[in-house]
Amino acid sequence: MTMTRRDVLRVAGGVAVALPLTSACGGQTVEGSTGSTLRSKAELPDPFSVELPIPPVLEPTRTDDSTDYYEITQQAVEVEILPGLSTGIWAYNGIFPGPTIVSRSGRRTVVRHRNELPVPTVTHLHGGVTPPEHDGHTVDVVLPVGGWQAEHGGHGSHGALNVIGEGSYDYEYPMEQRAATLWYHDHMMDFTGPQVYRGLAGFHLIRDDEEEELPLPTGERDIPLMIADRSFAEDGDFLYPSIAPDLSEPGLEGNFKNGVLCDVILVNGAPWPFMEVTNTRYRFRILNASNARRYRLALDPAPDGASFVQIGSDGGLLGRPVEHDKIDLGTAERFDVVIDFSQFPLGTEVTMVDEFADDGVGPVMRLIVAEEADDDSGVPDELAQFEPLERSQAVTTRHFRFHQGGDQGMWTVNGEPYDPERIEAEPRLGDVEIWEFTTDAHHPVHVHLVHFQVLGRSKSLLGVGGAGDEPGPYDAGWKDTIDLGSGDTAEVIMRFDGYRGRYVFHCHNLEHEDMMMMANFEVV
Ligand code: C2O
Ligand code: CU
Ligand code: CU
Repeated sequence: MTMTRRDVLRVAGGVAVALPLTSACGGQTVEGSTGSTLRSKAELPDPFSVELPIPPVLEPTRTDDSTDYYEITQQAVEVEILPGLSTGIWAYNGIFPGPTIVSRSGRRTVVRHRNELPVPTVTHLHGGVTPPEHDGHTVDVVLPVGGWQAEHGGHGSHGALNVIGEGSYDYEYPMEQRAATLWYHDHMMDFTGPQVYRGLAGFHLIRDDEEEELPLPTGERDIPLMIADRSFAEDGDFLYPSIAPDLSEPGLEGNFKNGVLCDVILVNGAPWPFMEVTNTRYRFRILNASNARRYRLALDPAPDGASFVQIGSDGGLLGRPVEHDKIDLGTAERFDVVIDFSQFPLGTEVTMVDEFADDGVGPVMRLIVAEEADDDSGVPDELAQFEPLERSQAVTTRHFRFHQGGDQGMWTVNGEPYDPERIEAEPRLGDVEIWEFTTDAHHPVHVHLVHFQVLGRSKSLLGVGGAGDEPGPYDAGWKDTIDLGSGDTAEVIMRFDGYRGRYVFHCHNLEHEDMMMMANFEVV
């Protein structure tokens, strides 16, 4: 079943979408992020008045020798996010973040997603090494259980939605990959921004023996933190500047196509929460699930030693830990860090702050060192086997420019707005390739299916010059998303292992993604 999408000119419903480059970098743009800030109209709580929720771990509905089976219902519900107000959300099992799925490396995981929402959805496992029909390609939609009229408009004139499920679909994940912090989120073509914003995001962790042999903090001291900014209407509902709030048309009002930045920071769905900790080490799996906002995380007060000891990245454990005083966190990136609270006197209130906040330094959450406890955890100097990919292994280098372009002033890849039919690259299964990315604004670039290593990055205004410099301080390990600043060039290297078929790569600023900054590659 296919549906033709409407003409590109209809995107913004009559609003001009062309935008000079300077608008993407100036105006209300926040340091470190590309976008415009949407101000809440609701009365906001004081920071640190709500306790940090931890998303529940989902129980399988059944298991057999090889596979664990799960069920998730996507539904519209009302929840309390701001104290005393109710917020309508779209959520996995009615909670935001969705339930955490925990897989074992080497055991298949099957997740049946039932769509009780009024719109088609796509569920992507971000970081998953997944066959193409289960990857959540942006056109592979699951229709609502109640049926759906093809009244959605779309961007491309050649595009087509591909219905893989009517009401539900079983996403099958082989999980032949190492321990890592993955996440699942909506990926509906043209509507990923609004659909994730309404609450369609959750953690999916993979565990394995290699990691469990290490003395890292576990159990109640292994905490996922999903950071996402949102803005609220007076009645408590989320604000989002869609041209059509019922999502019958894609497109955003005014400058918001550069990115929607919000004034409330949610951690695990709670506004600027607090958490009581013991004076021990904790592992935090930090995910930036925001649509467009980047963060520079720091601790206040900062300890004498390292604030954050990074042990893992998007693709799991690093070879060796890396110490940071600050962490620059682009959208969709994961930083797996250990914070050692024995560095603080009991009673210390440690605030995790964002140094890229609109007004300078803003709060994210508070960690209160409330109690003494024993700690037998540690961070070994060697965490995992890490085999660097060498430049000489690459059979080809491809160049991709992420910039504003095309006739309509869209966000493009190599000058082309997303066309589901066009294949931009055809790597062969098993080949190692170098991909070079160049940008004109902040673009966090994400590649499905593979994990890459960063060979180097450099500032090269307007793409003149080349990569080849050292990787940045936040580029260690196996990545699936690289956070690029305005005018950056980076080279990443990866092996196209896993599966043949068609996948996407795109900017993970979700407004840019919806505004066409995406392309297909096909592993052949
Ligand atoms: Cu997290 Cu293609 O996305
Ligand atoms: Cu992905
Ligand atoms: Cu972008």
